[in-house]
Amino acid sequence: MKVDVILGLQWGDEGKGKIVDVFTPRYDVIARFQGGPNAGHTIIFDGKKFVLHTIPSGIFHPQTLNIIGNGVIIDPVILFREIDNLRAAGINPEKNLLIARRSHLILPTHRLLDSALESAKGSAKIGSTLKGIGPAYTDKYGRNGIRVGNIPDETFMDQYRQLRNLHFEVIRHAGFDFSAHKLDGLLFEDYERQWFEAIEKIKSLKVIDGEVFLNNCLDNGKSVLAEGAQGTLLDVDFGSYPFVTSSNTITAGVCAGLGVSPHRIGKTYGIFKAYCTRVGSGPFPTELFDEDGDKLRTGGNEFGSTTGRPRRCGWLDLPALKYAIMLNGVYSLIMMKADVFTPFPAIKICTDYQRENEILQSFPFNLSDEKLQPVYREMTGWNTSLDRCVDFSDIPAEFDEYIKFIEKELDLPIDILSVGPDRIQTLQR
Ligand code: GDP
Ligand code: IMO
Ligand code: MG
Repeated sequence: MKVDVILGLQWGDEGKGKIVDVFTPRYDVIARFQGGPNAGHTIIFDGKKFVLHTIPSGIFHPQTLNIIGNGVIIDPVILFREIDNLRAAGINPEKNLLIARRSHLILPTHRLLDSALESAKGSAKIGSTLKGIGPAYTDKYGRNGIRVGNIPDETFMDQYRQLRNLHFEVIRHAGFDFSAHKLDGLLFEDYERQWFEAIEKIKSLKVIDGEVFLNNCLDNGKSVLAEGAQGTLLDVDFGSYPFVTSSNTITAGVCAGLGVSPHRIGKTYGIFKAYCTRVGSGPFPTELFDEDGDKLRTGGNEFGSTTGRPRRCGWLDLPALKYAIMLNGVYSLIMMKADVFTPFPAIKICTDYQRENEILQSFPFNLSDEKLQPVYREMTGWNTSLDRCVDFSDIPAEFDEYIKFIEKELDLPIDILSVGPDRIQTLQR
């Protein structure tokens, strides 16, 4: 068997959580391969809403195993908040949740460092979620990190203190005073106390060699779905650097983030919204600053699942999607949130970028280039609610045209349409 992949083709928040949950009944294992609690994946069913940050979105199906892979970084406090929320809703995540021993820990001082480094950047800040992502991955690649597998070590406390003290030096050097700084409403000492309580609790979870487990699953005919976090345009190599996250969000990240070889990668499903959003700083060529942008934000409830920040909104960007499709080797497309366009008489799609009247033939290195101009095609809106649509054959003609145009431009089929946040508001070809 092979590992199928679901990942975002834009700047995150495409609706990955919803679709992974919809796909879960078809898979034996769901695995997160990168990112950490910067992710916020929303799943809505039976009138209940859940937002997951670290736990894979297959957790609501008890027969499916959910693995937090080695490429993920874990804040134990946030992990246990998620577990407690699920438990309060009558779900027992300990039963079908597994954690890779090689995944790295986010320390409370990684979070302080994130804030210190962002403050030091001033107006050039990334707009990080401040969950400690950049600093924790920096320590991983700098070979200073502490892994989940180190928790039982006799020297764990020494490892912790050594790394924490190193962080304190940097924080002091940056002149960052954290005496009154709050981490999710808690002072550092209180957060650190909760962190150690959560570290103790991790000992009761199933900690495994994820790479061995997953390869055994594949050998034994089990199906595996890898769940991406963030999106392709936030990839550390290919996104709008430096306004990116600190991991490889693309299909290639699955191999390193789970320990499976490239020949075991199966189908990659690329998710995108019918428009674009971005939260945090960085270039966004099709961003709207007018009433249409506000309509997308309000209609699409475009506020960050992790931070609550308003998301920047804009028209669909085909050059960016084509680039993302190339990087990921997408097999089939999933389009989300077209229902948000219901009140729009006309919809624009960016078909090309131009610079000084010349159409660009490839995706630009510098997306911030002020001379870069999107070229738009305008399409007629459908002006009808999609609430009653349960099948592709139910959709209005103008919506069908919108889909066909995108499929032709991207040379890929859109096999799934999501027309509302609930699990059941999903049309499959
Ligand atoms: P993820 O990070 O990719 O999992 O996406 P988020 O959960 O951060 O953001 C997607 C948001 O859109 C969530 O609030 C979802 O409940 C919502 N959503 C998902 N699909 C649809 C859809 O088809 N229509 C509408 N209106 N909302 C959707
Ligand atoms: P999901 O998985 C949208 C953005 C942040 C910031 C940049 C770097 O829910 O799609 P970081 O905290 O990684 O240092 O932030 O990346 N970002 C996301 N934007 N969805 C996400 O995850 C994101 N995770 C990080 O806003 O601009
Ligand atoms: Mg999200």
